[in-house]
Amino acid sequence: MQQVKAVVAKGKGLPVELVTINVPDPGPGEAVVKVQACGVCHTDLHYREGGINDDFPFLLGHEAAGVVEAVGPDVTEVAPGDFVILNWRAVCGECRACRRGDLHYCFNTHNATQRMTLEDGTELSPALGIGAFAEKTLVAAGQCTKVDPSARPAAVGLLGCGVMAGIGAAINTGAVTRGRSVAVIGCGGVGAAAIAGSALAGASPIIAVDIDPQKLAKARELGATHTVDSSQVDPVAEIKRIAAETYEGADGADVVIEAVGRPETWKQAFYARDLAGTVVLVGVPTPDMKVPDLPLIDVFGRGGALKSSWYGDCLPSRDFPMLVDLYQQGRLDLDAFVTEEIGIDDVEAAFERMHHGDVLRSVVIL
Ligand SMILES: NC(=O)c1ccc[n+]([C@@H]2O[C@H](COP(=O)([O-])OP(=O)(O)OC[C@H]3O[C@@H](n4cnc5c(N)ncnc54)[C@H](O)[C@@H]3O)[C@@H](O)[C@H]2O)c1
Ligand SMILES: [Zn+2]
Ligand SMILES: [Zn+2]
Repeated sequence: MQQVKAVVAKGKGLPVELVTINVPDPGPGEAVVKVQACGVCHTDLHYREGGINDDFPFLLGHEAAGVVEAVGPDVTEVAPGDFVILNWRAVCGECRACRRGDLHYCFNTHNATQRMTLEDGTELSPALGIGAFAEKTLVAAGQCTKVDPSARPAAVGLLGCGVMAGIGAAINTGAVTRGRSVAVIGCGGVGAAAIAGSALAGASPIIAVDIDPQKLAKARELGATHTVDSSQVDPVAEIKRIAAETYEGADGADVVIEAVGRPETWKQAFYARDLAGTVVLVGVPTPDMKVPDLPLIDVFGRGGALKSSWYGDCLPSRDFPMLVDLYQQGRLDLDAFVTEEIGIDDVEAAFERMHHGDVLRSVVIL
């Protein structure tokens, strides 16, 4: 067992605290990772606000890269010294989803068996089974995905959650490709990544929608061909108009990605997609949210698909090394997502900044 500094949310809505935690030595199937960088994701804030579940205290942080320090006795897939991105989809290979080949839906993903604790022994719930706003964290070995060790930890660590979720929402869940129009509603870290993914896939037009002009400017840098400030204009009408400029007769975008996680923006996505188009919900709603007054005939009448995207339907072992290679080749600008590098004692302030404009990702450097 060792003791390290870590960021913990002790109760609903309370400011997070930097405390000392106990990290057990890795047992069978486990690894201890020395965290180098960990992004601040909106999901961490959801945990802090009690929007995910009530299993406080939470050990926050889950978009991380680091170096494996030690592994349990039977672990063969990673070894001390390996540079890894942490993932929250360590597939089991044996559940119903895995057996039928849908590994990205694995119903029994692995996390560490032992629990990290507060100094007084209180068990911590690591965010998404990771908990990486910590100098070191204990995970299942399968949560460590080896990638090119020369890559910048602050940038590639973001593939561990939000950036992968966004890119995957476009290219995996939405099956975005050249010859398709895309609109992305909400251009924070996740939505901006969906734009970068759509650009990588060759889609056009790529329409970015947000209520914040700074996010829209960033979206353009990442590949958006059009931007819509939905605090000023009706985004549904604008998306339809822009799509029809490129594809005559289009009544919306082929793929509309919702990356906010609210009923009103999902409804915008729903009505902004073309006939037979696809809506992808990658934003995470809270349990109380409902979509009122949606005529069933509108669901039926458009055909197509209404999908949700958990973690961008990614397979870490397939997608992380591939995206890191594209980053290293200069074809995927992951650096653009790192707005600022911060210290481990600055997470609460980073939550605050999340609400004002200019931050895609604050990344804690350890
Ligand atoms: N599905 C997944 O696997 C997964 C993974 C990571 C994060 N998420 C979720 O994705 C969502 C976005 O995460 P993020 O880290 O990018 O958050 P973020 O706070 O960085 O971005 C949210 C963006 O939405 C914009 N926005 C807010 N209200 C809007 C509105 N009414 N219309 C248009 N834009 C609006 C904000 O200006 C901001 O740019 C969250 O719900 C998060 O929990 C999902
Ligand atoms: Zn499985
Ligand atoms: Zn996340």
